[in-house]
Amino acid sequence: MEWYESYSIGVPQIDDQHKELVDMISKLQASLPQGVSAKEIAEALKFIVNYTQYHFKSEEDLMSKIGFAEIEYHKKLHVKLVGQVIDILVNLKKGKIIDTYELIDFLTSWLINHIRNEDKKIGKAMEEVETYKG
Ligand SMILES: [Fe+2]
Repeated sequence: MEWYESYSIGVPQIDDQHKELVDMISKLQASLPQGVSAKEIAEALKFIVNYTQYHFKSEEDLMSKIGFAEIEYHKKLHVKLVGQVIDILVNLKKGKIIDTYELIDFLTSWLINHIRNEDKKIGKAMEEVETYKG
């Protein structure tokens, strides 16, 4: 996967973190043709989960700072998103064979749909805050 400017929500700190996540998924994707072990995939996913938790905390702090109306709903989505990747990790640990290409498809839409459908709303709210301030 790669970053497109259309993914930007207009908040540099959050956009940079989203780029970092795109980068992590891309690296995993790029490693697939050489063949990766379940252990290596699990390592990459753990990394993604950790960074995602850090990133979601940043978003939640920002939402709380600007009094974002849908914060509780958005936080619930974050819990669900992290849970989805943890479920994959648990399955991997149980020895379940996963289709790595499906995994990349999943992670790509997992990230992009959330940015497009939800995080963009934070960007919009930020814009309004800036307008009132100005
Ligand atoms: Fe979010």
